[in-house]
Amino acid sequence: MTKEYKHWHCEKDNENIYWARLDKAGASTNSVNHEVLHELSDIVDEVAQGTCQGLVITSNKPKGFIAGADLHYVSQFSAAEDIDAFVKLGQDVYAKLESLSLPTVALINGFCMGGGLEMALACDYRIALEDEGTKLGLPEVNIGIHPGWGGCVRLPKLIGALKAFDVILTGRPIRASAAKRMGFVDEVVPLRQLERAARFYVTHKPAKHSASFFERLTNKPFARKLLAKIFMKKTRAKISPKQYPSPFAAIHCWEHYGIGHKAYEQERRSMVKMAITDTARNLIRVFFLQDKLKELAKVRNIDVKHVHVIGAGVMGGDIAAWCALKGITVTLQDREDKFIAPAIKRAHALYKKKLKKPRLITNALDRLIPDVAGDGIAKADVIIEAIVENLEAKQGLFKQLEQQAKTDAILATNTSSIPLDEISEVLEDRSRLVGIHFFNPVAKMPLVEVVYSRATDQDVKERAQAFVGVVGKLALPVTSSPGFLVNRILMPYLLEAVTLLDEGFSAQAIDKAALKFGMPMGPIELADTVGLDICLSVATNLTSHFGGTVPEVLKRKVAQGDLGRKTGTGYYTYKNGKKVKDKQTESSRNLTTIQDRLILRLVNEGVSCLREGVVENAELLDAGMIFGTGFAPFRGGPIHYAKKRGILHVVEELNKLQEQYGGRFAADAAWEQLEAS
Ligand code: NAI
Repeated sequence: MTKEYKHWHCEKDNENIYWARLDKAGASTNSVNHEVLHELSDIVDEVAQGTCQGLVITSNKPKGFIAGADLHYVSQFSAAEDIDAFVKLGQDVYAKLESLSLPTVALINGFCMGGGLEMALACDYRIALEDEGTKLGLPEVNIGIHPGWGGCVRLPKLIGALKAFDVILTGRPIRASAAKRMGFVDEVVPLRQLERAARFYVTHKPAKHSASFFERLTNKPFARKLLAKIFMKKTRAKISPKQYPSPFAAIHCWEHYGIGHKAYEQERRSMVKMAITDTARNLIRVFFLQDKLKELAKVRNIDVKHVHVIGAGVMGGDIAAWCALKGITVTLQDREDKFIAPAIKRAHALYKKKLKKPRLITNALDRLIPDVAGDGIAKADVIIEAIVENLEAKQGLFKQLEQQAKTDAILATNTSSIPLDEISEVLEDRSRLVGIHFFNPVAKMPLVEVVYSRATDQDVKERAQAFVGVVGKLALPVTSSPGFLVNRILMPYLLEAVTLLDEGFSAQAIDKAALKFGMPMGPIELADTVGLDICLSVATNLTSHFGGTVPEVLKRKVAQGDLGRKTGTGYYTYKNGKKVKDKQTESSRNLTTIQDRLILRLVNEGVSCLREGVVENAELLDAGMIFGTGFAPFRGGPIHYAKKRGILHVVEELNKLQEQYGGRFAADAAWEQLEAS
């Protein structure tokens, strides 16, 4: 007999093996909080005092092993002492688990992240389920902290520092088979053999995995010094230690304290220090915002077996390829086969990168069917139009689609600028039209705007949101107002960058200012990447609705045919798609002014969108800008940033800029309401 627990189902089998199955009460996914830890501590005591052969830790949930520490629980702490106590509890319990003299097995039946992997690392053996969903990782750096329950110590010890820091510093999820190759999973087995494998390990006690001679060398003091320098340099090339300090802190701990006993205490102290930074708080906020967007896709269930995409260009081709990658049958229509061929070629490259195995690549390509005749229209559950940005062409097409499509098929447009109500004028039932606005490049951008007008049926909108979730993207509902949300807010920022250029600031200085703020790419390079012709058309459209002027330099470039990266020349020059480095170095004298001019125009436009109700609330707006443009995640989104900086202060700065540069900086009337709320 075993004791009863709230979160663990425990039993001893007829071979006298103790099975502890985590099934966190009241949650669909397992995560670790203080109750789970206290109970695990009792289980370890029970096992230590008993007569069993060994302990197997696994999950009782239908999906996943353990997702990590319970972030809802962690985010309630504000005092460093509380976080410290929680981290210490985890470290102590995992140390107790590690010191059990009986064989211990982590049976990893699904995703195994953060504190879940750290629990598994404290076991003698790790056996993982052979399945696409079984991924392992230490994603703590993505939320501004680093592993604190021994991950920074046990992993380098087990597989050497080179591989361990690849896991810790990237935070990336690793497939079970790759984890086995790296050495932190002992066995990958199909479901039917999972429990048998655990029994084998308990009863036969094979030698535990240990680091090779070379891997052990990487943890010696001289190697740590050298490798830490390399890790720091590589990490600094990607992110700034001021904005994202936690990976640097993880390297620092290991460099100075290695993998010995003292290292755990330092890991804990450092982790607590990271957990109270603004970066960690904001990144945890972003994590919850992402959950909110995921919830929006769960408004209802939807069964999508067939998607039909019309227009096999940059967007349509890639949308079709993406949907087929996600397991859906897709028919792709264009005027002639020759317009579809390049899309299939790009799809092949995408599948090679994502799926790797030839069988999976072939299956995905089989799902993507060229369809010049449009046979898929009558069968599809979702139809996405992505033809040229021309009202008459789109109207003509939708008129025909309404007649041919199934009555319950979603009719969607990927338009980036034409109001839905103008396209739907020609429909008998206008409520059927919805916008499903993907961003370019489709495979990389996580956000999709679900665009609705007053005519759009609520059910159609919700089904469109659910469809976006089915293809693994984040759905953000926005109204069909010019530019929708993301492009509308981004455009003043891009236009201000071009105005700065016109005033004589260099492209490098402008981009540097934005990068220093934390944007993933400078606005000038972004404009070149999107295409200056596209920027000009969006800018012309938006200024015609909201006022303002399009900078002359942008018009000039487009007239000259300098369209950015795709033509080799824009504001920068490009060779084979790569920016040609300019040797010119920039002084940082004007960076703060440039930053304010760029960012305050962006946040001011955001406030206008809130006032107009383009998006439901400030949280969703922040989420949209982070997942749609990469807006500095560690700042928590544009509106959050403005609130943190102080709304009165932001308005003051806008007033000053207005005096100096004119009406485009006029503070939106809704700042007052935001301050009041
Ligand atoms: P594109 O010019 O690359 O592709 C359009 C394709 O549609 C061409 O292959 C053309 O042959 C085909 N086509 C035109 N009329 C057709 C018809 N009647 N029947 C079948 N095929 C037809 O255009 P792109 O850039 O892919 O844009 C497509 C839509 O996506 C536009 O509405 C655009 O506003 C929107 N969009 C574009 C983004 C971008 O970054 N390019 C981003 C988000 C939305």
